[in-house]
Amino acid sequence: MRPLLYEFTATVFSFGRRKAAYDRLAELCEAETGEKVLDVGCGTGYLTRRLKAAVGPGGAVTGVDPSRPMLEYAVRHVPTCYFQEASAQALPFAEGSFDLVASSLAIHHVPPGQQPEAFRELRRVLRPGGRVVIMELHGSSHGHAVDDLPGQLEAAGFTVTDDAPIQRRLRCVRAQAV
Ligand SMILES: C[S@@+](CC[C@H](N)C(=O)[O-])C[C@H]1O[C@@H](n2cnc3c(N)ncnc32)[C@H](O)[C@@H]1O
Repeated sequence: MRPLLYEFTATVFSFGRRKAAYDRLAELCEAETGEKVLDVGCGTGYLTRRLKAAVGPGGAVTGVDPSRPMLEYAVRHVPTCYFQEASAQALPFAEGSFDLVASSLAIHHVPPGQQPEAFRELRRVLRPGGRVVIMELHGSSHGHAVDDLPGQLEAAGFTVTDDAPIQRRLRCVRAQAV
């Protein structure tokens, strides 16, 4: 999807609740001053910019996405963050590079058969004790939901700490790298 169309549909179909959902998600990320953070499937950078506000000038936030148009939009609109072309299944970072990995509405775009590899990649690039925070669509009734999100995280080497609704169709799962 083109970035402008994505921004338009994300705004319209959230019925005015997009900002509230992402503000809440950013709070749940509990990013601290100076931390190194990765936003996987960052799209236009709507969450990325909120994470940067939390880590401050001493911290660093990188967004990755396989879509070049999305990244070009993010670079223009969120110049305080770094952006790189990559997919969740093959992250171009050394192991233990980040304190926190966040991802919103991106993992359901990874083909189901490749999701285990994506979750292993999220774990690999986190330092021991680092956190992952994922916002996804609720339940399997929606064709794009991630099947057994907590179970997939546990299988990849995380301990799930929290699984809570953000809004009617959205859930936020938090976990720690063990
Ligand atoms: C619904 S948008 C969400 C964008 C952003 N995270 C947000 O919440 O506004 C989904 C994004 O996932 C990206 N995406 C698709 N396949 C992906 C993959 N294999 N790994 C990471 N991101 C992917 C798309 O390019 C798109 O930018």
